[in-house]
Amino acid sequence: MSLKGKVAIITGASSGLGYATAQLFAREGAVVVAAARRRERLEWLVGDIAANGGQGISVPTDVTDPAQVEHLIDQTLSLLGQIDILVNSVGMVLKVAPVEQFSSAEWHDIWQTNVSSVFYTTRAVIPQMKSQRSGIIVNVGSRVGKSAVPNIAPFCAAKFALTGFSQAVAQELRPYNVFVSTIFPGMTNTNIQPFKPAAEVRRQLLTADDVAQAIAWLCALPPSVRVDELPVMSRHLDL
Ligand SMILES: NC(=O)c1ccc[n+]([C@@H]2O[C@H](COP(=O)([O-])OP(=O)(O)OC[C@H]3O[C@@H](n4cnc5c(N)ncnc54)[C@H](OP(=O)(O)O)[C@@H]3O)[C@@H](O)[C@H]2O)c1
Repeated sequence: MSLKGKVAIITGASSGLGYATAQLFAREGAVVVAAARRRERLEWLVGDIAANGGQGISVPTDVTDPAQVEHLIDQTLSLLGQIDILVNSVGMVLKVAPVEQFSSAEWHDIWQTNVSSVFYTTRAVIPQMKSQRSGIIVNVGSRVGKSAVPNIAPFCAAKFALTGFSQAVAQELRPYNVFVSTIFPGMTNTNIQPFKPAAEVRRQLLTADDVAQAIAWLCALPPSVRVDELPVMSRHLDL
């Protein structure tokens, strides 16, 4: 697998799946543009990438703010001149509770973080990818964006919306040689809040690196191959 020379914007790169994907992409030769809100974690990531012989820059970005997203794309293009890959790994569950216990503000935040952010980043990279006539967008959905579970209804709704958005945009972009894939991981051993699985369960979950491997695989397929959707589950659990 090689991503040599590819410029890859990875949102949610400050932790979890995004962090692991940024590390793996850099090891595979990509130039990583790491985006999230926590500047110090991005700087640590980029320092680590450089220490291991890779290339990366950090652009602190709140992806729920379209102006900051435009700045992320402008910075990438002015420093690196191209955008080959966008990985949308930002996400938020917020809490586990019956639906009537979610406030309007919480619903709004979950929607903004999981859905609107992907609309903003996708909209912002499309002109460049269309003009290059190449590009790959990988959206990190969730198993619960295909088959919902109780007590995280806003998150399930947001991930179902992401699935639909991805399917529609994939069809719009195919004529331009730009491809959209959605990955649907099962529960993964990250620090995503508010999940705190017992150690015994945690050991059997997917790792962030497992999911990163699947994302990198999607981005390094031969140009004749297209994978629209990819479920990824632990061999040991149906979570
Ligand atoms: N962990 C799981 O079990 C699991 C399973 C299936 C799917 N997923 C999906 O995988 C993705 C990553 O989850 P994870 O487990 O890696 O969670 P995580 O460790 O909590 O990472 C979430 C990332 O999103 C970033 N983020 C949140 N709000 C943001 C905002 N407004 N602007 C910019 N960045 C923002 C966070 O960075 P900052 O706080 O620095 O901004 C962080 O880097 C999510 O889409 C999640 O739904 C996770």
